[in-house]
Amino acid sequence: MNGIEDLPGIDPSKAHVARMYDYYLGGENNFEADRMACVELDSVVAGIRGMAINNRRFLVRLVRTLAADYGIRQFLDIGSGLPTQENVHQIAQRADPGARVVYVDMDPIVAVHGRSLIADDASTAFILEDARNTGAILDHPETRRLIDFTEPAAVLFITFLHQIPDHDDPAGLVRRLMAPFAPGSFLAISHPVAGDPELRTQITEIATRTTEGHFGRVRARAEVDQFFSGLEVIPPGLVEVTGWRPDDLPPVEQTYDLIEYGGAGRKPGS
Ligand SMILES: C[S@@+](CC[C@H](N)C(=O)[O-])C[C@H]1O[C@@H](n2cnc3c(N)ncnc32)[C@H](O)[C@@H]1O
Repeated sequence: MNGIEDLPGIDPSKAHVARMYDYYLGGENNFEADRMACVELDSVVAGIRGMAINNRRFLVRLVRTLAADYGIRQFLDIGSGLPTQENVHQIAQRADPGARVVYVDMDPIVAVHGRSLIADDASTAFILEDARNTGAILDHPETRRLIDFTEPAAVLFITFLHQIPDHDDPAGLVRRLMAPFAPGSFLAISHPVAGDPELRTQITEIATRTTEGHFGRVRARAEVDQFFSGLEVIPPGLVEVTGWRPDDLPPVEQTYDLIEYGGAGRKPGS
C-alpha cells in the first residue's frame, strides 16, 4: 500500500473498522488482517458486503435529500471513512456549489486519502480527531471557518456509533455535538442492528477481538431510536436503509440477520 502502513498510528497486523469497511466496499486500502476479520464475520453472517454497499447508497440519498428538499448547505460528517466514488461534499455541492463540509475521522489512512481528495476545495476540510473529543471538533479552526452555527446544518453519524462503547456514552457524544447547532439542524444516523441477542454478542465479540478493542457493539433497534430523543424524525422514520427514500438504483442483496437502520431527525424550534 505504497508505504502507507508506515504512517504513525497504523498497525497493519490488526484489523481496523475503516479498512474493513473499505474492503467490503471493494476498495484497496486494506490489509490482510482487515480481510481476515471480514472473512470471520462473514462466517457468522453472510451478506455484510451487501449491507455496506446499501449503507453507502443510503448516505448518498440522505445527503441529496437534506440538500435538495431541506435546503441544508453545511455538513459535519463524523467517522467519515475512506473516500469512495460519491462523498458527502460531492453530493452536497451538486445541489449547491457553495455547500460546506467538515469531515472527521481518527484513522490516519483516512486522513491521507481524505485530505488529498479535497486539497483544492476551500469549502471542505478534514479533521483528524477522535469523535469522543467533541470540544476539539466544535472548537477546531476549520469547523469555525466552515460552519455557521446560526444556520441549520446536518451532523452525520453514518454507520459510526456502533464503534462507541456504552462506557464512552454514545448518546452523550451525539448530544454534545448537536448542542451548538441551530434549530432546523439535522441529526442523521445509520447503525447495525441485530434482533437476536446471541448474534449481537457474537458479532460484537469478533469485531472487538480482531480490532483489539476498537469497537463498541451491535445494538438493538430501540437503542438506536433513543439517539433521536428530542428530535422530530422525518419520514419514513428509522428504517432498514434500503427503504429510506429509495431511488431507481436497486438495492444489493444483503443479510437481514444484521440490519443497518438509518434515519434523520430535525432539531425543533425553527
Ligand atoms: C464503518 S466506517 C463508516 C464510514 C462512513 N461514515 C460511511 O458510512 O461510509 C466508520 C469510520 O469511523 C471511524 N472511527 C471509528 N471510531 C472513531 C472515533 N472514535 N472517532 C473518529 N472516527 C472514528 C473509522 O476510522 C471509520 O473510518
